Amino acid sequence: MTVYRQGLLKSPMAFLKVAFGLLITVSLAHPGLGFGWGFGGAPSYGLFPQFYQFSCPQADDIVMSVLDKAIAKEPRMAASLLRLHFHDCFVQGCDASVLLDDSATIASEKNALPNRNSIRGFEVIDEIKAKLEEACPQTVSCADILAMAARGSTVLSGGPSWELPLGRRDSKIASLSAANNNIPPPNSTLQNLIALFQRQGLDEVDLVALSGGHTIGVARCATFKQRLYNQNGNNLPDETLERSYYYGLKSVCPKSGGDNNISPLDFGSPVKFDNLYFKLILWGKGLLNSDQVLLTGNVGNTMELVKAFAEDGNLFFEQFAKSMIKMGNINPLTGFNGEVRKNCRLVN
Ligand code: HEM
Repeated sequence: MTVYRQGLLKSPMAFLKVAFGLLITVSLAHPGLGFGWGFGGAPSYGLFPQFYQFSCPQADDIVMSVLDKAIAKEPRMAASLLRLHFHDCFVQGCDASVLLDDSATIASEKNALPNRNSIRGFEVIDEIKAKLEEACPQTVSCADILAMAARGSTVLSGGPSWELPLGRRDSKIASLSAANNNIPPPNSTLQNLIALFQRQGLDEVDLVALSGGHTIGVARCATFKQRLYNQNGNNLPDETLERSYYYGLKSVCPKSGGDNNISPLDFGSPVKFDNLYFKLILWGKGLLNSDQVLLTGNVGNTMELVKAFAEDGNLFFEQFAKSMIKMGNINPLTGFNGEVRKNCRLVN
């Protein structure tokens, strides 16, 4: 105000412009202070893409350089990292709770039924974190690393990119029970899938678009075997399974044993992010029950959505990007909540 009165700034408008600019500068340079975009009234702590613009401008480049190498070495890693972000966000929000190891105070989510012997990619996250700690100590959260790795993995597999809101902080707790209860099982009915997504604030469109993540990666026999041998408790296969596909799967997954044998979720292009996943579903070649019921489940509009995404790859890409942003926004810790872990496996 003194500045204004002394006439250095000629008008109230000019003064407001400078003050506004200063607020943005301080807010971006010191994200830890928790200033968000909440002008007027209490500060809001929303996520925003420029969160690390001043505190760690090279963050995304570091993530991408590690991903580049890891995915070149093993293309499936892209799928594993995409899934990790999903399994993080569905359990107490996108807060990197999934990365915490067992300890005296933590019952690790890694031991939950949907995760055990299944989720992977932790070493790649560790490598990204180590490089980020070197470049910008205690600045980039593990939860944001998961979100950046999911986007980067999608892009490097040929999928869409999106402007990624950042500023998540890391939890100091994990929830084994929420991991068991919130992550949808592969034999879910469509009704159950819709309900579990709704619990996270996601709708049918998000469910179908995000299921399109199964355009890359693999699943173990244990997750779809029931469809081959005893879908309805009558010792018969799932009748929605296309015949030749069914015989192929049986040769990979015998009736007894072989539970850890794997089959691609999209056998036509298992490391390419495209819309073939939806075409396969139309042809009765969805791998998991949860994939196929999007077409056959007879609830809501999911059948129309599967058809629309099968027909129009660009529509799928656009909606996948939107739904990933929505999923990435589930209950983040921001401002002074949580912490920025030094090691993604441990609370500070
Ligand atoms: C709609 C409910 C969903 C169910 C029931 C489901 C279930 C599964 C199952 C059972 C597997 C195989 C796990 C194993 O064999 O160990 C899997 C793999 C995978 N899921 Fe999902 N999933 C769902 C949604 C999603 C979403 C929303 C995404 C990401 C946007 C996603 C991404 C993936 C990826 C990429 C893989 C392959 C991972 C790898 O190869 O390591 N899934 N999913």
